[in-house]
Amino acid sequence: MFATFVAVCALNSGCQPAPQKVETANQVAAPRILASSDIEAGRYRVATSGCNDCHTPMYARTNGAQPPESEWLRGSSEPHTGPWGTSYGKNLRLTVAENTEDEWVELLSTGSSLPPMPWPSVRNMSDYDKRAIYRYIRSLPGVIGEPSPAPLPPGVTPPRG
Ligand code: HEC
Repeated sequence: MFATFVAVCALNSGCQPAPQKVETANQVAAPRILASSDIEAGRYRVATSGCNDCHTPMYARTNGAQPPESEWLRGSSEPHTGPWGTSYGKNLRLTVAENTEDEWVELLSTGSSLPPMPWPSVRNMSDYDKRAIYRYIRSLPGVIGEPSPAPLPPGVTPPRG
């Protein structure tokens, strides 16, 4: 009996114990942020994914102390200059106002534009999180605001931000 087992094991590379399936309370089809509401999940995603660093003026340079949340994500005129020219973090409140939730998911899933927008990591978010961010941005109070400045081609010096 033992000998048979050893022989089968030798022929068969799969002699390790089968991995145990761990059931958890929050098991879902795709990774997602769990929170008390979609809006809270979106808020958490935005607050921990760096979106404000480029899409909210003053946020990065005040270490997150300014501006208040009611002014988040209205776009920034702080220039990001490199070989691509100069880009500006767009007004995401405007983007959600102009797109349906499905269009937003499509944009975040296929988006590609000037650096330093971190498209690779945003594209890899689950649809759950993309939808949560959309709902959160829509819930933000206050005016939608103006578009941020248009990008500049390489070689053009941006006006001071
Ligand atoms: C390091 C800076 C940076 C960070 C961090 C960043 N963005 Fe951006 N994002 C940009 C810039 C710059 C653009 C505009 C690029 C251009 O003009 O081509 C942009 C564009 C976008 C657009 C396209 C908007 C439109 O109307 O076309 C979306 C959507 C977007 N960002 C979402 C996000 C989200 C969501 C996060 C956080 C998970 C995030 N960004 C984090 C810099 C950043």
